[in-house]
Amino acid sequence: MADSETLHAAVASYGPCAIKDLKIGETKYWCRCGLSKKQPWCDGSHKDTGITPMAWKVDKEQTVFYMCACKQTKNPPFCDGTHTSAPEEVEKRKNACAKKDGHVQDCKLCTNCGWVPDF
Ligand code: FES
Repeated sequence: MADSETLHAAVASYGPCAIKDLKIGETKYWCRCGLSKKQPWCDGSHKDTGITPMAWKVDKEQTVFYMCACKQTKNPPFCDGTHTSAPEEVEKRKNACAKKDGHVQDCKLCTNCGWVPDF
């Protein structure tokens, strides 16, 4: 069964968001679908995609947190450097998508490959 772990998200950007001023104990909701306009945090855009945000509790004091915005990291919600090799992989997946016929402008997100319409 598909879930947030197996569905493909959209790439919000190929590089992390540098986040400052987080407080220990604070809970943040990391956008996992890639559609949020408030990256790296959830703004509710995942509705009807089957992908849900990841709750993350700030557990240490740190000046800057580098949060993944490409949504391809193996260490969510943090950037692990995957964004550097992700563009080629993502394009390959979109081009080979079995649901490519559904890639039309009124499609919000193809979770089979991560395709999103151009805005
Ligand atoms: S922004 Fe996703 S791994 Fe760096």
